[in-house]
Amino acid sequence: MYLDLLLVGFGHVARRFVKLLDERASVLHDRHDVRCRIVGVTTARHGAAFDPNGLSTAVLLDRYASGSSIDGTDRDRAGRDYSWLLSEARHHTATACAEGRVVLIETTPLDVTNGGFPAIDHVREALLAGAHVITANKAPVAFGYRDLAARAAAAGRRFFFEGAVMDGIPIFNLVRETLPACEILRFRGVVNATTNFILTAMERGRTYHDALTEMQRAGIAEADASHDEDGWDAAAKTAALINVLMDGDATPLTVAREGIRAITPDRVHDARARGRRIRLVASAQREGGLLLGRVAPEELHPGDPLAQLDGLQNGLLLETDVLGTVGILQLDGGLTQTAYALLSDLITIAKQGTRDRNRGHSLAPSP
Ligand code: HSE
Repeated sequence: MYLDLLLVGFGHVARRFVKLLDERASVLHDRHDVRCRIVGVTTARHGAAFDPNGLSTAVLLDRYASGSSIDGTDRDRAGRDYSWLLSEARHHTATACAEGRVVLIETTPLDVTNGGFPAIDHVREALLAGAHVITANKAPVAFGYRDLAARAAAAGRRFFFEGAVMDGIPIFNLVRETLPACEILRFRGVVNATTNFILTAMERGRTYHDALTEMQRAGIAEADASHDEDGWDAAAKTAALINVLMDGDATPLTVAREGIRAITPDRVHDARARGRRIRLVASAQREGGLLLGRVAPEELHPGDPLAQLDGLQNGLLLETDVLGTVGILQLDGGLTQTAYALLSDLITIAKQGTRDRNRGHSLAPSP
């Protein structure tokens, strides 16, 4: 199957993703019969490019690294925004759109101040144009999951977001594919790598500032790192988990939230001296008919699986009605893992497309 990719956002995750696409090209082709080409990219500060015959990954990355526009001309060409990208795609890849072979890869930064926009619009418009959507941005699923899932179903397209929580470690896929007869009753997790890295670094004598700077340099902290520090990233992930796994209607704003700025080295060491560890814990549970989400630093008992998580590690404990508690740990987190989530969603879309075609299902949108 041939897939044409449109990228909105070309930050750390997207750049790692396009490299991973090249690195795994033979696996995609030999094992999954998928061939991909990037036909369009828009960026916030490096212009935009579109070529229906495919753009060169190496050239895009070189131009980005050199600071010039990714189309090789002057930067920030007026009007070359997301609407421009979609209109180029509608015009030049109409057949591929109609056949369900165009995928929007949405990796714009998390912004909690605008109710999930403009990322939600990116998803809506792409679905309307006939593209599938994969996002690593938490905003669409945290603010607009129900609406977007319904729009995707009506359009006969996929809306996937595995990279939104715990990078490439399967959470949404795992529940969708392997826990179809279980209810998720509650969950607890450590879902933000930046704050876990800072707390671990402070336990080891490093400063908060030093550890945060390292996460910013590594491209793991959010573009606006206060989203990590103040718990917004974890609250967005909590809302996403509530909406998808528990059929809730949360947003990051409805999740009770406390970040880690008030955690001092003294508090971290004091907890350690008592055999405890402070971790930023995200959780949700049902109480009196309501689904309550919470993000807050907690002192964890050494027997708690979440207390074992160091540095970039993340973990999620799902309490189910049938299987008891199912734990998922991410012991190696990072950019490659987030990029991998996009890749794995892409393969799922290709496989489902092939399966639908073999069964003779139409990929055309519902009337
Ligand atoms: N800023 C996020 C984190 C990136 O630190 O976990 C991955 O969602």
